[in-house]
Amino acid sequence: MVKIGLVTISDRASSGVYDDLGGPAMYDWLDQALSCPWQASKHIIADEQALIEQTLINLADDVGCCLILTTGGTGPAKRDVTPEATLAVADKVMDGFAEQMRAVSLKYVPTAILSRQVAVIRNQALIINLPGKPSAIAECLDAVFPAVPYCVDLLEGPFITTHPEKVTSFRPKHARQKADD
Ligand code: MTE
Repeated sequence: MVKIGLVTISDRASSGVYDDLGGPAMYDWLDQALSCPWQASKHIIADEQALIEQTLINLADDVGCCLILTTGGTGPAKRDVTPEATLAVADKVMDGFAEQMRAVSLKYVPTAILSRQVAVIRNQALIINLPGKPSAIAECLDAVFPAVPYCVDLLEGPFITTHPEKVTSFRPKHARQKADD
């Protein structure tokens, strides 16, 4: 089973000051993109570094998620600590994901450079930070998701498949052949 962690990181959404829009935006994007069965583990937490680290560790090590998406807390404000927490639990940093998300996002808004979003590997999970705005979530996932299924293959995770009209997952030829066997 493809288990995916969805973590909304926001003081206001977690305390009920406003509705969580980021969590549903991540869920809906995946629901439209994935053609394989999958299960979400959803969390809404405050911008507290220790709590973010604990949540990511739990999803990667205990729940067994192959992919964890976070939304929010990537900007320059004092309470924005999502990238620090993500890097603190990382085994490896996957710079290419963040480079691509910011590069593509800059085509939509000049303030895309304000996001300090990172992507890392923890255990067998790929963790990707997304900005808090729902439109930014879709823009970033559209930009990097084609590489996600093969990254999960390389981590010896489940075989993720997608609807090509929404997103085409790219696998090198030898990996495609293996999947067809
Ligand atoms: N990326 C995309 N694709 N679209 C956006 O609208 N907003 C930016 C940036 N990245 C944006 C984006 C803005 S205004 C900020 S402040 C940062 O993401 C950080 O957002 P966060 O603190 O909600 O994570």
